[in-house]
Order: sequence, then C-alpha cells, then structure tokens
Amino acid sequence: MTVDSDQDIKGLKRIGRIVALVLQEMKKHVRPGISTRELDEIGAQFLQQYGARSAPVLVYGFPGTTCISINDEAAHGIPGERVIQPGDLVNIDISAELDGYFADTAETIPVPPVGRVQQKLCRSTKNAMLRAIAAVKAGLPLNVIGKAVEEEALRSGFSILRDLNGHGVGRSIHEEPRHVPNYYNRLDRRQLVEGMVITVEPFLSTGANHVVTAADGWTLRTPDGSLSAQYEHTIIVTRGKPVVVTAL
Ligand code: CO
Ligand code: CO
Repeated sequence: MTVDSDQDIKGLKRIGRIVALVLQEMKKHVRPGISTRELDEIGAQFLQQYGARSAPVLVYGFPGTTCISINDEAAHGIPGERVIQPGDLVNIDISAELDGYFADTAETIPVPPVGRVQQKLCRSTKNAMLRAIAAVKAGLPLNVIGKAVEEEALRSGFSILRDLNGHGVGRSIHEEPRHVPNYYNRLDRRQLVEGMVITVEPFLSTGANHVVTAADGWTLRTPDGSLSAQYEHTIIVTRGKPVVVTAL
C-alpha cells in the first residue's frame, strides 16, 4: 500500500508493534528442548491477546500461526514436533493483521553454543537488512535495496537466496511491488515512492543461491543443506529516513 493519512500510519504502527512484541516474546523461549509447536503456541496466544490475526493463516491457510524455519530451512517452516537443539539457527517470521493493516517481521536466532560460521551468517544478514533500510529514500531506485544486500554478501562471502525477496505490504501480506529483490538488477527501473510500504528481508546462505520446496509443500529450504538466515522489517518510505514500523 501507499500510506495517505495519519490513520494509515497509526494502523501500520499498531500492528507493527504487535508483531515486534510477539517476536520478542517468542525469542525469549528459544532454547534447546522446546518444540517449534510450543514456540508457535506462545506466539499464537500473544497475537490473540492483542486481537491480531496471523496473516499466513488468513491469506494462505498456513498450518501454523508463525513460520519457524531451522538451519537449512529458509522460510515457511511449519511449527510441529521438531525440538530445538543447541547450535540451531531458528528463524521466526511473524506477519499479522489488525483492523485491516498488515505488518511482517522476522529474525534468525542462534541457539548457543553456535559455531563461528553460524554467528557470522546471522551478523552479516542482519547487517545486510540494516544497510538496505538505510539506503531507502523516496525518489531513489528500488534496487538500492538489492545493491546494499549484494554488497554485504560480497563482503562477507555468503550467498544470496535469490528467489526469496521483500514485497509490498500494508493492506494484505503480499502486495505490489510483489518483488523487492535482494540482488542488484540495473534493468530494474522501479522507484521508491513516498508512503510506499514494503518489507526489507535479505536471505543469505552459506552456499546455495536458491531454495526448493520440501515434501510438506510449504517449507522452503536450500537444496544442498547449506544454512540460511533472514531478518525482516516492514518500513514506510519517506523523503528522509524510512519509518520502521516493526522496530520496538
Ligand atoms: Co515475513
Ligand atoms: Co515478508
């Protein structure tokens, strides 16, 4: 969506804060021995308390409230019996709706003790997101995002999962622009417009540059077992710094 009133901004900030709080709460419970279903139930309870509804359930009929993807799983992991182990990379992606507004946020949480590569992968991916957000400004090309992510990937030596990308958001979970790529494409002439609401969500991996769909029909994972990390914020494009609606 493109925001055009204070009401829009308020509505987005409200749901943005809720998904951020739910992520913070779930994060506290990420430890060895907890199942992804138990984690998801914590998220579900919290969302319900705020009167918010899970976007993947609402829009796609996803079999879980939040997406929890571990290690070589990059996105759309289904919460279930899987138990979190020391050394896991646990990605929690939460998108939800309140009063017709949607926000989307995610983080990859390393479960101690984690290896050096896992730590570096998380740090670099978060950095890629922060640099990409810092590059966003109305009037600039949309591909400043892909450029920033690509620069961080090159610097750190990690690969980009090129078939996973950011997207427009606000009145539904996935809107125009449908694809906010995590790599630079000089032929992409689209511009960042004031009031545009998008997600910035780089996916970096320790080797793969694309994902495959697992047998469950939902989970997207690397084809070669390489590890994935993703961080995500929902932002509003302005003529200055973007408004990060999913930051606490
Ligand atoms: Co998300
Ligand atoms: Co998203």
